[in-house]
Amino acid sequence: MKHHVYGNTEGIRDAMLRQLDDLYDYVLEEGEFLPRELMKLLAEYSCRLNREIAVYITRDGEIVHVAVGTDCDVELTDFRLRRNARRLSRVRCVHTHPDGDGHLSDVDLSALKIFRYDAMTAVGVKDGEPVNVQTAFLESDEDFLLTPAAAWYRVPDLDWLAQIQVSDGKVGAAETDQVEDGPERAVLMGIESMESLEELKRLAETAGAQVAGMFLQKRDKPDGALFIGRGRAEELARECQALEADLCILDEELTGIQIRNLEEVLRVRVVDRTTLILDIFAQRASSAEGKLQVELAQLQYQSTRLIGQGLVLSRLAGGIGTRGPGESQLEMNRRRIRERMTELRRRLSEVEKQREIRRKSREKNGTPVVALVGYTNSGKSTLLNTLTGADVYARDQLFATLDAVSRRMETAEKTEYLLVDTVGFIRKLPHTLVSAFRSTLEEAALADVLVIVNDGASREMVKQHDTVEQVLAELGATESTRIEVVNKCDTADPWPTFPGAVMISAKTGLGLEELKDRIADALQNNYERVTLLIPFSQYGRIGQIRPLGKVLSEEHTDTGTRLIMVMAREDASRLVAQYGAEILDR
Ligand code: GTP
Repeated sequence: MKHHVYGNTEGIRDAMLRQLDDLYDYVLEEGEFLPRELMKLLAEYSCRLNREIAVYITRDGEIVHVAVGTDCDVELTDFRLRRNARRLSRVRCVHTHPDGDGHLSDVDLSALKIFRYDAMTAVGVKDGEPVNVQTAFLESDEDFLLTPAAAWYRVPDLDWLAQIQVSDGKVGAAETDQVEDGPERAVLMGIESMESLEELKRLAETAGAQVAGMFLQKRDKPDGALFIGRGRAEELARECQALEADLCILDEELTGIQIRNLEEVLRVRVVDRTTLILDIFAQRASSAEGKLQVELAQLQYQSTRLIGQGLVLSRLAGGIGTRGPGESQLEMNRRRIRERMTELRRRLSEVEKQREIRRKSREKNGTPVVALVGYTNSGKSTLLNTLTGADVYARDQLFATLDAVSRRMETAEKTEYLLVDTVGFIRKLPHTLVSAFRSTLEEAALADVLVIVNDGASREMVKQHDTVEQVLAELGATESTRIEVVNKCDTADPWPTFPGAVMISAKTGLGLEELKDRIADALQNNYERVTLLIPFSQYGRIGQIRPLGKVLSEEHTDTGTRLIMVMAREDASRLVAQYGAEILDR
């Protein structure tokens, strides 16, 4: 089975369970409160089982929870979250009454008040057919509006949908705004190491959370259903409650089912490491391309996790893990997500084409690229700033830079190059991100020279360097000349050992002259300054030669035109092969 049918499923045959399970695939059209076809299915199943059936429907028309009860009741599920416990839950409950009467019971109405459903609907069922339907909506914390019982084929879909909007405006709005102003309180749970957990703490803080507690539980093998063991999960639930947590962040990548199961035990939203990183990226993206890439990465990650209700609690509540550049993408159903992903891919490929054109023209001009790569927070942006005097966002936060920033530079020998800052790497960098950002990252990886910036102030420097190596290998960046740099040497005491690396401080300027020399040397290996002498008789060639590199000077002499240029060694040898050695004025 793909999903999970809840409640009293004992004794139900597999074939029937599968049919109930298929209800999760049912998507309501816009403007439908409760389609007749769905009512008929519910009536039929309910009658066959002689049990109540409840389905929960989001405002986007997705069925996110299916439960079976007894012949006279069904366990009603709480979709509220502590953070906005007074607001409507954004889910409506539709359930059957197999005794033929569609009037809501007192129990139904008090559940509406407690669980703050968008609406509570009962469908009376007789002989496998729906009979009548009644719905209640909250009007305030205490009062509700009860509709008259309507014949099943006369449900006023539009009126009832409109009433949800009315209720939403009335119920609990004032109080929530107050609560949502404060930072979300997060409890962190890791299974790997304290270092990884400390990093998760920084990530959580970067995302705007206040970390209320951290727990490490080493396990060799994660539990399939809950990720952590059940006993530990129950303990964690108590800890979350005691620490008044709004959410729990797990230091690994979880499946949709695990998130949903954990949310059920913990009763707070559950966010995994990847979702957290995506959330930070979503807040940071500023260029059009960056936004498209992040949105695509988020949708890709979500779409594999939507099976069953997955992120229902998280998705409906707002806050960390739910933010993105797309408007209301978090309420989209599967079909809309697929459409949107296709659209995003199309737009991205257009942007990529543009970029390819720019890159080609740069190659033609012979401007080499020097890319700063390194672990997040290692000081790449600061270095770019001090080297170029540019104003790049540098903060003591993870992933302060997301969009590649580049500046034109020149070596002492007048070789022009492009210095590019790139998105920081991080361990367990989500794969969806690597693939969404592939073109941006690849551009860096294809640079002529890679300056690998290591954080000398971090105890984790060596491990971080390994991660950077791994990501570079994944991107196929094996051919560029590399310069290793240890940054923040003003704070490091004693200086970390890193054979062959340039010791610098982007902040104080220490070691930057040496670094510039090393960059110039590296470029010189690939590029050279040549003086060409083109006789007047062959003046026509100049037009083909100029674009091969940067022209430093052009003067007309008695014998012809003298061009001083910086160009790739490869191109210079090609010219010699084509026109003879005399073209070079040694
Ligand atoms: P991402 O955008 O996350 O990839 O980070 P980044 O590598 O661009 O790092 P950034 O330049 O934003 O610097 C991170 C923090 O390190 C900032 O608080 C900087 O002020 C600090 N920093 C950078 N270089 C130095 C340095 O040489 N010495 C000291 N003491 N701090 C530094």
